[in-house]
Amino acid sequence: MKLENPHSGGAIDAEVSLAEWWMPFTANRSFKEAPRVLSRAEGMHYWTPEGRQILDGTAGLWCVNAGHCRKPIVEAIQQQAAAMDYAPPFNMAHPLGFEAATVIAKVAPAGLDRVFFTNSGSESADTALKMAIAYHRAKGEPSRRIIIGRERGYHGVNIGGTMAGGIPGNRKHFPAMMSGVDHIRATHDLARNAFSRGQPAHGAEFADELERLVSFHDASNIAAVIVEPMAGSAGVLIPPQGYLEKLRAICDKHGILLIFDEVITGFGRLGTAFAAQYFNVTPDLITCAKAINNAAVPMGAVLAKTQIYDTIINIAPAGQIEFLHGYTYSAHPLACAALLATQKLYVDEGIFERARAMVPKFEAALHSLKGTRHVIDIRNLGLVGGIELEPRAGAVGKRALEAHIKCFNAEKAPALVRFTGDILALSPPLIISEDQIGQLVGTIRAALQSID
Ligand SMILES: Cc1ncc(COP(=O)(O)O)c(C=O)c1O
Repeated sequence: MKLENPHSGGAIDAEVSLAEWWMPFTANRSFKEAPRVLSRAEGMHYWTPEGRQILDGTAGLWCVNAGHCRKPIVEAIQQQAAAMDYAPPFNMAHPLGFEAATVIAKVAPAGLDRVFFTNSGSESADTALKMAIAYHRAKGEPSRRIIIGRERGYHGVNIGGTMAGGIPGNRKHFPAMMSGVDHIRATHDLARNAFSRGQPAHGAEFADELERLVSFHDASNIAAVIVEPMAGSAGVLIPPQGYLEKLRAICDKHGILLIFDEVITGFGRLGTAFAAQYFNVTPDLITCAKAINNAAVPMGAVLAKTQIYDTIINIAPAGQIEFLHGYTYSAHPLACAALLATQKLYVDEGIFERARAMVPKFEAALHSLKGTRHVIDIRNLGLVGGIELEPRAGAVGKRALEAHIKCFNAEKAPALVRFTGDILALSPPLIISEDQIGQLVGTIRAALQSID
């Protein structure tokens, strides 16, 4: 295969082998037989090496919220790379780290104003779990170590996140790497909530299962509950009305920390900076990544309530490191430069407000697919959409994979659409126009009509 590399000054002469890159979350053998490759991006589009323009219906991987290769972000990274490439964050600092944390604390829900930088959503999840355990220990309750996740939850791929996560396929090869984890059930309820617009009406009572687990394990042993306020990776599972409020109340009643994993919902996906603000439910810790800097340089963060920070910090003797955790690339200067430019762009262009204004059009277009072949549910919140397909007998996931490939290879208006199981997931850059929403939905309709 020949791949164009615009930065090498043209085509790479040598044949590029596809063998060496062990690709993540990819069926390596079948993918490499017919690879789908992207080599350039701008605004709402990708381009393939052959020059085909692909409408980005997924903001990369739920992360390029301001659109691709935005000039102020590109320039900020270029300038920072020339000014200072790297500085150690352990017992040393650089101004951009402080500036970035201050900017994030300003858009965070009130009270979550301490910011710990990581390099990914997975690292954020494991960092937050350690913070929760460290907090209870500092408070004099060291037995609080159990973590409660939720079935179909996704918190990345590090050990804590894998164990707290609830996607069976992600867990099955790695059993019992971490003890002291339990799960409440997922909220998905097709029988009662199919084709809901926004938050479904039924299912607040799923939160009551947390009470059952509290009785079972005893509150004195439970550190935290971690959930995505809106689950993305497992197929766009939108919290029923009243559900998150109930989780919050049960956690409060039993002194359990509530962690919102906002790796997907953070930075405008629902039209607010965080889902916590959209739902008006404030957790104790928030994990985020992706759109924090428009995914231009790997970066994540954990936002903690001041009181959690103070409790952990103040218990340690003066001069001693209080939280023995961190990454070489925490607050990497390039990532911080991208963050500052991204957050400014979000404000300057009113990108979250724009997303909010586009929701009714997105919702209407998405639900116009009701009645299209194979579609058994459509759900949406903010600029996120899920289209659930009837699984093919004996071949779960195949139909959605085929739809994804059809959309990518479409002759007219090809589009990048994500699939997970038999669910198509949409999460376009927040700068998408009404016409582009129409194109995206039209491409999906044509793809669904053309597959068995
Ligand atoms: C909710 C959630 N948490 C954690 C992660 C993991 O993030 P990363 O792939 O950056 O490690 C993701 C990734 O999609 C996610 O959606």
